[in-house]
Amino acid sequence: MARGDLIAPIAVSDTGDIQALVTAGFGSLTAACFLMLRVAEATAAKAWLAGVQVATVADLGKDKPPLTQVVQVALTSDGLAALGLDPAIIAQFAPEFVRGLARDASRSRRLGDVGDSAPAHWHWGSGDRTPHLAVLLYASDAGALTALEAATEAGLGGGFSIVTRLHTANFAGREPFGFMDGISQPSLDWQGRHQPGSDHYANTIAAGEVLIGYPNEYGRIADRPLLPGEHTLPAAIDDPGWGDLGRNGSYLVHRELAQDVRGFWRWVGREAPDAALPLAEAMVGRRIDGQPLAGLATHAIAGEPRPDSNGFTYDADRDGMICPHGGHIRRSNPRNGDFPVPPRNIFERAADILGLRGKPEADAIASARFHRLLRRGREYGQWLDREAALDQDAPDPQSGINFLCLGASIGRQFEFVQGAWCESAKFGGGSGESDPLLGSRAPFPDEQATDGFTRGCPAGRRLRHDGVPRFVTVKGGAYFLLPGVKALRFIAS
Ligand code: HEM
Repeated sequence: MARGDLIAPIAVSDTGDIQALVTAGFGSLTAACFLMLRVAEATAAKAWLAGVQVATVADLGKDKPPLTQVVQVALTSDGLAALGLDPAIIAQFAPEFVRGLARDASRSRRLGDVGDSAPAHWHWGSGDRTPHLAVLLYASDAGALTALEAATEAGLGGGFSIVTRLHTANFAGREPFGFMDGISQPSLDWQGRHQPGSDHYANTIAAGEVLIGYPNEYGRIADRPLLPGEHTLPAAIDDPGWGDLGRNGSYLVHRELAQDVRGFWRWVGREAPDAALPLAEAMVGRRIDGQPLAGLATHAIAGEPRPDSNGFTYDADRDGMICPHGGHIRRSNPRNGDFPVPPRNIFERAADILGLRGKPEADAIASARFHRLLRRGREYGQWLDREAALDQDAPDPQSGINFLCLGASIGRQFEFVQGAWCESAKFGGGSGESDPLLGSRAPFPDEQATDGFTRGCPAGRRLRHDGVPRFVTVKGGAYFLLPGVKALRFIAS
């Protein structure tokens, strides 16, 4: 096999080398804190990295006792450089990771990081507040977390300075607007049985969509640093004579997203005085209790462990009358909503069969399966109930999501979903709209508005809302590598 060849799916065996975040969000560990660090003294920093105990996928085995605390470690490209890794090696990682989240105005524009969300306003993640390292700490309760945090910070020695500590909150599975969150997640093909490409929406994706160094949905392994004759690293699957610095790692996108909970519920209340909740649910694309919107039939989907809450496609809703094309979940995972228009009559069907209308799509869900995200976020701040938010004297607690997602391609996964789908003014054939939750609402350069939202209503008409305010503001963020354990030790060496 030569590098660049198509590679058949392969089972993932070295689970002891993969940080546990790849398979778990650690829901039973309800307290979490994310430390953002910069290298102050490289030798001491490396000594800490050489010894830090990170939980791995192997620690989550069925025969293993439940974890009572977890430490995970991720590094930015600036961090790799500060630890002295050869720039020529760093340059072989994905370009988005190498460049970072906040360095380019064009990237910020595409992601909607403009106005109040521009990196210049962030409290971490840009300039000299770009972290080198994220240490993710999880514990069973607040007391245990405080102890873990204190022990971790004490152990850092003089190796690091702290940019910020991001404390999280536990809203029992709800995000701050009040919707159940963390429901729809792709399943990874750990056994190497999944054949990419299908005309049915499936929830299973190739391991290489999340794990670097494994074949992805294209049957290829993405570029990553390969080191000649390096034996402390896992061998490259497509070139076993080489050590693979990426293998068993994943890219981790972290964005601190502040939510205007009062603004959200007050706006939907003004816009739809008798039906504020249905409007909010249409904006999300799900009911507030997490169930699919009424009318989206639930059925079995390959690789979907939660058919009751997530066994639906948009087959029965091509025109977006039930779940608006522009709704948050339909934008961020259109499932089979991008199916081509089916033949409308017997002549078109015959033309399809003869291949006269172009080849019938062999892979109709391609647009979804290349852009799945494994979300691992946590809420932060103070809870504000939606009824309380309507009260004129309601407090304005700061709350939001520490949005974390994993993927083997930041560009094809997070950046595509955020930029081409959520921020797009024309997604799903719409016009002048953006994601009703996330959209920056900044007009496109040609002055095109992005603050509209269109939904179906029970009378069978379409309702258009204009002037949707911005509800989510970015406060910080960075692109990290969540390395395999052997890669982590190599970086520390
Ligand atoms: C404050 C910001 C956000 C809020 C309040 C929010 C809220 C939600 C909610 C309530 C759901 C439905 C429940 C579920 O399936 O888990 C959801 C799903 C989802 N969100 Fe977000 N989200 C936010 C940011 C983002 C961002 C930044 C992205 C990616 C760019 C994203 C991508 C997704 C995806 C991929 C799904 C699953 C869609 C599906 O498969 O049906 N979200 N989000």
